[in-house]
Amino acid sequence: MRISVVGLGYVGLVTSACLAEWGHEVTGIEVSPERLRALNRGTLPFFEPGLDEMVARHRQAGRLEFTDSASGPVGSSDVVMVAVGTHDGNGGWQTETMLACLSQVVPFMHDDAVIVLRSTLPPDFIRQLPTLLRSLRDQAGRAPISALINPEFTREGAAVRDFLEAERVVLGVVDDPDRRGVGRLTTIYEVADAPILTMDAIDAAFAKLGSNLFLATKISFANELAALCDAYGARVHNVVEAMSYDGRIGGRFLRAGVGFGGSCLPHQVTMTVKSAALAGIPAPLLAAVDAINDRQRSDFVRLTRELLGGSVEGRRIALLGLTFKPDTDDLRDAPALDIARLLIAEGAEVVAYDPMEGARERSAEIVPGLVTVESAELAVAGSDAIGLVTEWAEFRSLDWPAIAETTRGHVVIDGRGVLDPAELNAVGFDYAAFGRGVQLAQDADHLEPAVVATATKDGSRILAGSFAQPESAGGMSAYRRGVE
Ligand code: UDX
Repeated sequence: MRISVVGLGYVGLVTSACLAEWGHEVTGIEVSPERLRALNRGTLPFFEPGLDEMVARHRQAGRLEFTDSASGPVGSSDVVMVAVGTHDGNGGWQTETMLACLSQVVPFMHDDAVIVLRSTLPPDFIRQLPTLLRSLRDQAGRAPISALINPEFTREGAAVRDFLEAERVVLGVVDDPDRRGVGRLTTIYEVADAPILTMDAIDAAFAKLGSNLFLATKISFANELAALCDAYGARVHNVVEAMSYDGRIGGRFLRAGVGFGGSCLPHQVTMTVKSAALAGIPAPLLAAVDAINDRQRSDFVRLTRELLGGSVEGRRIALLGLTFKPDTDDLRDAPALDIARLLIAEGAEVVAYDPMEGARERSAEIVPGLVTVESAELAVAGSDAIGLVTEWAEFRSLDWPAIAETTRGHVVIDGRGVLDPAELNAVGFDYAAFGRGVQLAQDADHLEPAVVATATKDGSRILAGSFAQPESAGGMSAYRRGVE
């Protein structure tokens, strides 16, 4: 099939390359001259594993090309997919780009073609789509065209696989009286060997929204559970592992930590809560999901403060990881940036490292006062505390005995719960993680199992006490005092 993809951001570029992989002739249309120039030089605007190789291969084979001119390719395409941005950059929606794009594309499509919207759109906009598309065609003196929405469920870092081996494909019918659109997209997607679910457009939009809201809810649930575990001395990873064998629950997306970031989950939770409030619809569960996610970031700072004896002022804090998750260079709503801002506002010196060079450079521009360096070793040298914020693979195999020789203080806050507390305690680091409590190096030898102080509401009192009077009991006895 001849397919045009309008908008070569994250969704559009992955869609273009994967459709070419399935043997279609794809033209990607991009209005930004810089992005287009870079793409035509073979440079992708973001990092996504496997995508650069796939784009290069299909350009070489002539199945994939990039242009800034919509009218030519769109006029000869069987399917036109639109994947332009709909975020306003401030946690809200903007639909102007989509409106402008539709008015430049829809009038030029041939009568037999199908338009497919892949961007995530607000429900009100979806409801207006049939009228909007018909009026664009009327004004051009042309017959109506088939229109569908086809929400994407791709995760950054795994986007190529998520597209090619989708778990499900959702088609939402905007206007498709003779089922031409559903038929054509079914032909495209049946190679993915996934269930293809066809429904009204508004249902499809809510299927996407519901999926993301549920994933966010699972994460905030895990984080609330972690706080309860901390208060009572339980360890959340053991708790979640035991829960995960219950087929009704499962174990995925229940990793406690600094919470969710990125372009989808935070935006959709916040926007749903805001829109519900404006419409007078109560959404207390989602409001709590949002609040818990914000709290994780400030709790990371609180933990750091407590482990440093009550203040971060004048202390040097090393942050490991800046991107919102590993295997991406995306900094949108990244917890690390908020954490850095909060620490700097309290007078800390923050030195950060992330494996993505571009992310390091942009972070230093976004967060005034943030210093970035070129290796984890440089970041931690001379630090009073080390905070792991993004669980990049390289942070799992750091040489902690060597690091212990170069740091000033011996404190690690593991914001993703991926490090081994026993290994850190053994070389003198105090360790804290959400849902694993605080494990002090001084207690490591004589506490069995090695557990746990703090993160109750009284955490600061407990830890300040144990640090101010080193001879006083930390560990389990401090924890017991906390819950009495
Ligand atoms: C998400 C959805 O997963 C995807 O289906 C949708 O199309 C776009 O939004 P993405 O934003 O790429 O994908 O990231 P995802 O892997 O879902 O992670 C989101 C955030 O949640 C990350 O910050 C991650 O670190 C965090 N997370 C994830 C947790 O804190 N705990 C978990 O258990 C899982």
